[in-house]
Amino acid sequence: MSAVLVTGGAGFIGTNFVRHLRRLRPHWPLINLDLLTYAGNPENLQDLAGDSFYTFVRGDIADRDTVASLFDRHPIRLVVHLAAETHVDRSILDPERFVRTNVVGTYNLLETARRAWKDLPEAAGCRFLHVSTDEVYGSLGPDDPPCTEASPYAPSSPYSATKAAADWLARSYFRTYGFPVIITNCSNNYGPYQFPEKLIPFVLCQALEGKPVPIYGTGANIRDWLFVEDHCDALLKVLETGAVGETYNIGGNQERTNLDLVRLLLRLLADLRPGLGDLESLITFVPDRPGHDWRYALNTEKISRMLGWRPQVALEEGLVRTIAWYLDHQEWLARVRTGEYRRYLEAQYGRAVSKPRLTTGS
Ligand code: NAD
Ligand code: DAU
Repeated sequence: MSAVLVTGGAGFIGTNFVRHLRRLRPHWPLINLDLLTYAGNPENLQDLAGDSFYTFVRGDIADRDTVASLFDRHPIRLVVHLAAETHVDRSILDPERFVRTNVVGTYNLLETARRAWKDLPEAAGCRFLHVSTDEVYGSLGPDDPPCTEASPYAPSSPYSATKAAADWLARSYFRTYGFPVIITNCSNNYGPYQFPEKLIPFVLCQALEGKPVPIYGTGANIRDWLFVEDHCDALLKVLETGAVGETYNIGGNQERTNLDLVRLLLRLLADLRPGLGDLESLITFVPDRPGHDWRYALNTEKISRMLGWRPQVALEEGLVRTIAWYLDHQEWLARVRTGEYRRYLEAQYGRAVSKPRLTTGS
């Protein structure tokens, strides 16, 4: 029986997507290839160890032999490519790994799959889903219309530039070789298992310890938020029913300024965990992210019209579920906040976020 290769399945979206697939397609043999960088956590999927349809492989997508041997050993017909370096701030501090994983790694997967699939008949149903981001479209002003799949690319950070390069490579494989690639560009995800360097889980960690909650610049930048399970649902739909060679935007249509989002998050946290003190007083304005994109927004008419997908989880409901998950998984949080994580915080924020201001923290 043919197999699906998921890359980056031990990261945030990958973990949620692997769980989604095991739930909805339990008889698909699934291989999860993940290097287990600081962002990958094998503990997330430990309970799948006894699942005979699930195989975990620790390895680098940029390593030719690793990827080639997977295609030699397994009848891979579907690829869902999530593995990437993903944090914009880290890409500013140290861009090199972004080029290697996001560009070279994507090239290596595309080329290995192309060679493995080139003599297979169309009926084999091969598909390569390349998972990308809304950041490739660049920054919008307050009154610009949301980006469509035809909007030009204008990436700002080393992260988004490497994702854009990977998207163009994927497109070129369709145009040049007729390789069956589909691309998705998604807005900001949130939910369980997100590594606590990203805004929402970082704010939760800081607030639970009574520490400053850093807001870059004025906090007026706008992001569009999507609950991760809605993203996973869209990815499976695109994989199964999307048209090869096409791009689909996936978004939540829930735009908020960072300041509004953080205030809402802190209010919901205070409701769920009373006694933490005046959480809003923790908000601290810090120097802006260099090249900080002002606003992202996606037009998602294509995926809803062509594939019938729409987000199901409203922002407040998704945030409550996310907060509840982190409150229930404080040991998980403690284990991922390693020495490397603390060194990263020091490099990124200096001392601005390290000292508790409220004494009620856990
Ligand atoms: P993440 O940082 O949480 O996880 C990335 C995973 O990739 C980790 O498990 C890591 O170990 C693995 N990885 C990194 N380098 C690797 C390599 N060289 N070889 C194999 N594995 C490697 O990322 P995420 O937030 O889950 O994002 C997953 C994908 O979705 C990325 O491609 C990202 O660009 C895209 N995306 C993310 C968001 C978001 O809001 N998080 C939004 C849109 C698109
Ligand atoms: O838009 C999709 C993208 O969303 C994904 O492609 C990226 O992988 C993912 O990391 C995310 O990028 P952002 O840069 O938007 O996410 P982040 O959580 O880092 O920041 C969200 C916003 O909050 C952004 O405007 C920067 C701001 N911010 C972030 C942090 C970590 C702060 O104000 N303070 C912070 O401490």
